[in-house]
Amino acid sequence: MAEVMTETEPETTWSSVRYNFYSDTQTKPTRAMREAVLEAEVGDEQLFADPTTLRLERRVAELLGKEAAVFMPSGTMCNEIAIKVHTDPSDEVICERSSHIVGYESGGPAMLSGVMLYTLDGDRGRFSAEQVRTAIRPAARYMPRSRLVSVEQTANLAGGSIWPVELLDEVAEVAHQAGLSTHMDGARLMNAAVAAGVPAARFARDMDSVWIDLTKGLGASVGAVLAGGGDFIEQAWRWKQQWGGAMRQSGILAAMGLYALDHHVDRLAEDHVRAARIGEALAGMPGVAEVVPVETNIVVFRTVEGFPGGPGLAEAAAEHGAAISVRDERSCRIVTHLDVDDRDVDVLLEVMASLLG
Ligand SMILES: Cc1ncc(COP(=O)(O)O)c(C=O)c1O
Repeated sequence: MAEVMTETEPETTWSSVRYNFYSDTQTKPTRAMREAVLEAEVGDEQLFADPTTLRLERRVAELLGKEAAVFMPSGTMCNEIAIKVHTDPSDEVICERSSHIVGYESGGPAMLSGVMLYTLDGDRGRFSAEQVRTAIRPAARYMPRSRLVSVEQTANLAGGSIWPVELLDEVAEVAHQAGLSTHMDGARLMNAAVAAGVPAARFARDMDSVWIDLTKGLGASVGAVLAGGGDFIEQAWRWKQQWGGAMRQSGILAAMGLYALDHHVDRLAEDHVRAARIGEALAGMPGVAEVVPVETNIVVFRTVEGFPGGPGLAEAAAEHGAAISVRDERSCRIVTHLDVDDRDVDVLLEVMASLLG
């Protein structure tokens, strides 16, 4: 995804942003969340002596219906460690083409686990059990071994689409029958749970590992929690230690996560309503060719030739103080989150109408 603004962009570019629809990763911790940190009991996390982190891990394990969980610095680390635990070098991981592990983890699966990625073209980020069946390689001396199926809930770059429970069940069944493990990148699993009215644990039921991000819709500033069976988490801990992810008084961070789980889950519904409103308004603009059906907090849309598109549109929006991200030469992505309200949506839509109307 060619982003117009990147982490290397001068600070002034970001500081001119007044309406930030670039990503739900842009949220800043609220005052109440910061206050929760002041009260956090802390200890040495590497020695399992940080009570707040332990509380967060137990809470997320329960939320996801798993035996155990481990606090990680980031979602990327959750994905990379899960792949490492589930596979051996030269194995193959089946996943969707637009998934984060393919395009946005700096080639980590190849470097850290020595695995190959077998990418499927999904329907808005979701693939079928039949596609998995076809992708699983027969046992042959000269072929890589298919070892893991990885899904992304919601499918971010495909427009925040939700994997329905039945589809997940079918995909997991095919994987497990063939002896493969299953992993869910749940960066936005709580968005799916709120939008679909399905408990996160039900979505994750047949996943051997699953994680949630605390820094996206939930609005914390650092951290993700990886969950799975006791044995899986024990192995995950070993890689976390080896890769430098073990922490010390991490309760300072975990307290934000606990606060987010208490206060920022139900409100995701507001983000979804705002995203739906944006999608509907865009669909009515002459310069918009297609809006991917909006299911959660992400709006991906393509513009008509002759109107600004992709990078040109994001640049023009930025001149009005609105940040959106670029999907490709003609498409952009708009994301709603804790730090944008109805008034911000009004302004964004005015800007979009002026560019695409
Ligand atoms: C679907 C998905 N997976 C993984 C990640 C990585 O999460 P983190 O930024 O916490 O490393 C992201 C981040 O944007 C994401 O969107």
